Amino acid sequence: MRKRSGAALAATSVPRGEIFLTTKVWWDKPKGPAFRAAFEDCLARLRQPYVNLLLIHWPSPELDLPSVLEALAKIREERLAHAVGVANFPSALLKQALALGIAPIACNQVEQHVMLDQQTLLDVTQPGGIVLTSYTPLGKGEVLDHPVMREIAEEHGVTTGQVALAWLLSKNLVSAIPKARGVERQAENLAAAKLKLSETNLEAIAALPKDRRFVNPAFAPAWDV
Ligand SMILES: NC(=O)c1ccc[n+]([C@@H]2O[C@H](COP(=O)([O-])OP(=O)(O)OC[C@H]3O[C@@H](n4cnc5c(N)ncnc54)[C@H](OP(=O)(O)O)[C@@H]3O)[C@@H](O)[C@H]2O)c1
Repeated sequence: MRKRSGAALAATSVPRGEIFLTTKVWWDKPKGPAFRAAFEDCLARLRQPYVNLLLIHWPSPELDLPSVLEALAKIREERLAHAVGVANFPSALLKQALALGIAPIACNQVEQHVMLDQQTLLDVTQPGGIVLTSYTPLGKGEVLDHPVMREIAEEHGVTTGQVALAWLLSKNLVSAIPKARGVERQAENLAAAKLKLSETNLEAIAALPKDRRFVNPAFAPAWDV
């Protein structure tokens, strides 16, 4: 049975220093003080003195960007979060946040997979030294059946999931957070870090459609693609 994060952290024998703990504050806290209060509540529920990474989960249409960035900067200064960043920020908003220079943005967590390459965003994150964290990196398992993916997997004697992850990891400053319930698939996904795709493989994946988006709630911002 899945445990709530606080309970799982309390129960595990894995040392805290070996866990990378990320949390996000929901988009209905568009101003600094409410954002800060929600984060403190989250720390209390996690029963942790700090998290490794704190993100703005989604940019609300009412987001007061300077105010929330100030909250993030203060939380980081106080070491309640060792790094801070954003999620679901399209390139224009990310540029705005960077131009304000209030908080050092470590990453932008967005949907990215073989059918959504986020090149416009990478053109901002890579030169800026910002990590793009790919969520839904397996396209919820739905982009893995494509014949091109199967052909590449066969060539390397690996799974299509590993090909999808290796493609993401071949990009500079990109990390991926696949979700898998079972230990076997978790191990399979971790092993993808060792797979090196050829230039021909990369070109074949580059030619796949790049406009397939799985996570697009009503409150989502205007995306780059
Ligand atoms: N920041 C945000 O707004 C945001 C939005 C969405 C998601 N996320 C985060 O992104 C992470 C993953 O995203 P996701 O769950 O949407 O999508 P995903 O990781 O692309 O896909 C998960 C699905 O793929 C299956 N799977 C896992 N490993 C596989 C493999 N090697 N081969 C074939 N299928 C495999 C899983 O099944 P089993 O579990 O049965 O193995 C599950 O059904 C989550 O931690 C989530 O919290 C963040």
